[in-house]
Amino acid sequence: MRASLKFKFIMIRNLLFLLAFTAVSFPVFPGEGMWLPSLLEKYNIEEMQRKGFRLSAEDIYSTDRPSMKDAVVRIGGCTGVVVSERGLVLTNHHCAYRAIQSHSSVDNDYLTDGFWAMTEDEELPNRGLTVTFLVRMEDVTERVLSVLDDGMDENQRQAAVNIISGILEDEAVEGTRYNAAVNSFYFGSEYYLFVYDVFEDVRLVGAPPSSVGKFGGDTDNWMWPRHTGDFAFFRIYADDENEPAPFSGENVPYRSPVHMPVSAGGVRENDFTMVFGFPGSTRQYLTSHAVDMLIRMRNPHSIRLRDERLAAMGREMERSDTVRIKYASKFASVSNAWKRWQGENRGLERLDAIERKRAIERRFAEWVEGSPERMSRYSGVLPGLDSLYSLLEHFTLAFDYGQEALYAIEAVRFVNDFLRLTETRTDLRQGTDPARLTSVLSQVSGNFFRDYHQPVDRRIFSMMLTMYRENIDEEFHPAFFGEVTTGFDSDFDRFADHVFSESAFVTPRGVADLLYVLEQDAAGPDLLEDDIFVRIVGDIRAVYNENVISEWNSLNDQLTPLYRLFVEGLREMEPERAFYPDANRTLRVAYGQVRGYYPRDAVYYNKYTTLSGVMEKNLTGDPDYNIPDRLRELYDAGDMGRWTVNGEMRVGFIASNHTTGGNSGSPVINGDGHLIGVNFDRVWEGTMSDIMFDPAKCRNISVDVNYILFITEMFAGAGHILEEMTILR
Ligand code: ARG
Ligand code: ASP
Repeated sequence: MRASLKFKFIMIRNLLFLLAFTAVSFPVFPGEGMWLPSLLEKYNIEEMQRKGFRLSAEDIYSTDRPSMKDAVVRIGGCTGVVVSERGLVLTNHHCAYRAIQSHSSVDNDYLTDGFWAMTEDEELPNRGLTVTFLVRMEDVTERVLSVLDDGMDENQRQAAVNIISGILEDEAVEGTRYNAAVNSFYFGSEYYLFVYDVFEDVRLVGAPPSSVGKFGGDTDNWMWPRHTGDFAFFRIYADDENEPAPFSGENVPYRSPVHMPVSAGGVRENDFTMVFGFPGSTRQYLTSHAVDMLIRMRNPHSIRLRDERLAAMGREMERSDTVRIKYASKFASVSNAWKRWQGENRGLERLDAIERKRAIERRFAEWVEGSPERMSRYSGVLPGLDSLYSLLEHFTLAFDYGQEALYAIEAVRFVNDFLRLTETRTDLRQGTDPARLTSVLSQVSGNFFRDYHQPVDRRIFSMMLTMYRENIDEEFHPAFFGEVTTGFDSDFDRFADHVFSESAFVTPRGVADLLYVLEQDAAGPDLLEDDIFVRIVGDIRAVYNENVISEWNSLNDQLTPLYRLFVEGLREMEPERAFYPDANRTLRVAYGQVRGYYPRDAVYYNKYTTLSGVMEKNLTGDPDYNIPDRLRELYDAGDMGRWTVNGEMRVGFIASNHTTGGNSGSPVINGDGHLIGVNFDRVWEGTMSDIMFDPAKCRNISVDVNYILFITEMFAGAGHILEEMTILR
């Protein structure tokens, strides 16, 4: 009797709690958000500590003393974390993928076999790859706004922002080796200055074979349960003063003032987790119009276009190992967004996102009507967005087809880059030394052809143009479409045969000849103009760049001030609530807890996976689940060293942190500030989190550090790497 009364009491109390919460806080979900490290003290630290964080905001971000932020880096488009005193950086395998590919050949296939430098001498340099530390950040809103006034139109405003930003940036780095950037937040309501330290000599230290680092391939991408060992090691090199320097044999490992200790204790349900990294872009404040356009039009069309591109690449990749290596990275990146859009659409539909956005807009409209001041400031916002979006629809589809069809043709992008260089480098062309231009061009062309297989592109060419013609209004058709109709029976296949046999731009030989002539006669551009691909790109630019992009940009520029007011109004409407700014590649903190979830009715997904799951998937026979023999041997022998937790070899885990693209490679940190995993993905049911976060379904996926340590030490025999690290139990 007593027990059941107590139970009832608890139920009622919980219900009251729930009601209280739903009444005050509408769309902000607990756990949602990507927060600025310098503002944690103000907005988040108490909630973080309630969830199990045992350190202070100063421990995360400080400019007075070393703090956690000094171990978090931007590396390429990803994030990484410094894990030793010798500049060792841990990130994802998929973030290192291009680097690994660039060192690979059919004979030396590091994608397939993995790569491990057994000494520092063997570490491989990577041209163009940099590592960036945040030195400090500062709110410069007042100084930026002080040069703006309400009379400015958006272009004038932007010009003024650029000027003052330049001044602030110069001021901030004067007399230092650093560089700086001022970024806009909340669509230009606030501005922050970021000072960065960039290292240019970054070397590949170790990466598992793809059968570990990309286990599950595109089948498992964006999915849980996941068994991918998605990690790789790089090292930062510096000059003998420990300062950044271009690659040189004289450089030495960077002496890192801060590195993150690793905790191999394993995660438990509800453990505090925090993800510290550089999320790329989110669109949390999109209105119902934009979400509607995304679900109904943009995502479905973009998905269909990529279906065809993937099929074209996949077919040739299956036929030859050379093509497989050349296209591995391109395929993975085309496939990645293609799959995310599918999950995003489902998630938004399931959440009834359009209706939820409309509800917010109705509340906003009511609130605006509540006072004359608000009326005068905000009454134009929603109607303005409404009418802009109806104008935008037409251009948006054409814009997307430009990106996803016209410029999906590799040769179109190449010729476009080539022409741009000859155009912007007229100084070089007309100058005394035409060889300088041709040497730049031959580098660009070398890069292009290294990973080019003409039959793939020819197929993409005819498919993309066919689909463009079918779906896009005639007013946006490039001029050469007419020639295809009259001269080639409207058949883009036949047109492709013609183009690919005529143009100099689709073979290395053709381009080399062209460059030779160009160098002899630097002022002779006619040669270029006669090439059929140059004409095609000219036609594309004439209609797409000039009619579509310019209109699309100008409509989007008009959206910005309306969104600025919209978000300003929302914040005023709910003064108690902290609104996090959209991701913009600046350093952020997300925090949450280790937690399983229900992907659908009656199905529960556990919070972590184990090596047994790798073996289970392997049994299905799907080649995405191939595993290296050595892994099977270690598993069969039960030889997992110190890295098991309760007798299990943990592989991945999920938690409720709000993350996005760019967060890959981010350290996942426990309540004591120790590294417990490396973030690399999100679950399928939660891929709509860039637009709308659902605490019940949104989970970030991480590799467990135990798996990283096990693979590095026991599988790869690279235990010397572990010796550099600080490993706690
Ligand atoms: N979905 C993850 C992210 O957005 C991982 C992508 C790499 N893996 C792949 N199979 N394509 O980057
Ligand atoms: N996989 C993503 C990345 O590369 C992370 C994500 O979108 O969740 O940054």
